[in-house]
Amino acid sequence: MKKMAVLTSGGDAPGMNACVRAAVRTALARDGEMVGVRRGYAGLLERDFTVLDRRAVANIIHHGGTILGTSRSEEFKTVEGRKKAAEVLRRENIEGLIVIGGDGSFRGGTLLAVEGGLKVVGIPGTIDNDVYGTDSTIGFDTAVNCALDAIDRVRDTALSHDRVFFVEVMGRHTGYIAMESGIAGGVEELLTPESPMTVETLCSHLEHAFNRGKRSAIVVVAEKEEPGVTFEIAEEVHRVLGLETRVCILGHIQRGGSPTARDRVLASKLGAAAVKALWEGKEGYMVGEMKGKVVHVPLKDTWEKFKGMDPELEELASLLCQ
Ligand code: F6P
Repeated sequence: MKKMAVLTSGGDAPGMNACVRAAVRTALARDGEMVGVRRGYAGLLERDFTVLDRRAVANIIHHGGTILGTSRSEEFKTVEGRKKAAEVLRRENIEGLIVIGGDGSFRGGTLLAVEGGLKVVGIPGTIDNDVYGTDSTIGFDTAVNCALDAIDRVRDTALSHDRVFFVEVMGRHTGYIAMESGIAGGVEELLTPESPMTVETLCSHLEHAFNRGKRSAIVVVAEKEEPGVTFEIAEEVHRVLGLETRVCILGHIQRGGSPTARDRVLASKLGAAAVKALWEGKEGYMVGEMKGKVVHVPLKDTWEKFKGMDPELEELASLLCQ
């Protein structure tokens, strides 16, 4: 395969640039050609292309965001839109497309492959770590470390003022950021979509902890579909227990910043693996990483199957977060 294209789609994630760099350099190593598609599927429909040579991907490995830009395209969700996208790629003699994104982007990629007869390989890039078939997604580790830094800072002030702090983190369908930053930060309570807790139960846990002598606490909450919902929870805890509460919403801060070493290595591994997969004729797959090894997962499975929370982490949290 001589000519390939790469795009980033959906929410950006730190490490996407490292991934683009690895894909470009791997392709060039075998005299291949890599075209960059700007603004995800929306840019593909408008033929918004840029040639990616060695120089184009120099000095980007440490930058968050994506040099290609990203979007969520409504037109690409239609059959007509995908037909148009397939035609654009064919006209340019692009034989393979690498999609760096989350499950929504892979759904579109699968349909493009099936309907348009194109060779598509996915790479999981989203801070949420909610993609089936990989232990971690690109950007997740950086987001966890960002949340952890905030939790550590909040603990200083929570202790000084004897307050209950609520730290709201991202995570639309899964609570991985909440779970890992909460365990690493030694927080008292965790509210995730996988283990929902009523405010009544949360109050009884906190009451018990304060009766044991605790004077402050940190509760990490995954925002789910409703960023800001934490304010209501904090207010209710204050009303029921009379404790002083404060809320800290981390929001999009978690999506930016320089990727951690772990994210850069994962991104580099998967960028190179995606190009190799296309060379080997393994189209229609996502390249992921399980137990430290690169794996090839049918692209369809990544959005049809649900990842779910790691039960070992759940058990650990129930032992340590109290
Ligand atoms: O990238 C995933 C994610 O960060 C989710 O956790 C969050 O719900 C969503 O993106 C918000 O994205 P946006 O503001 O870009 O629509």
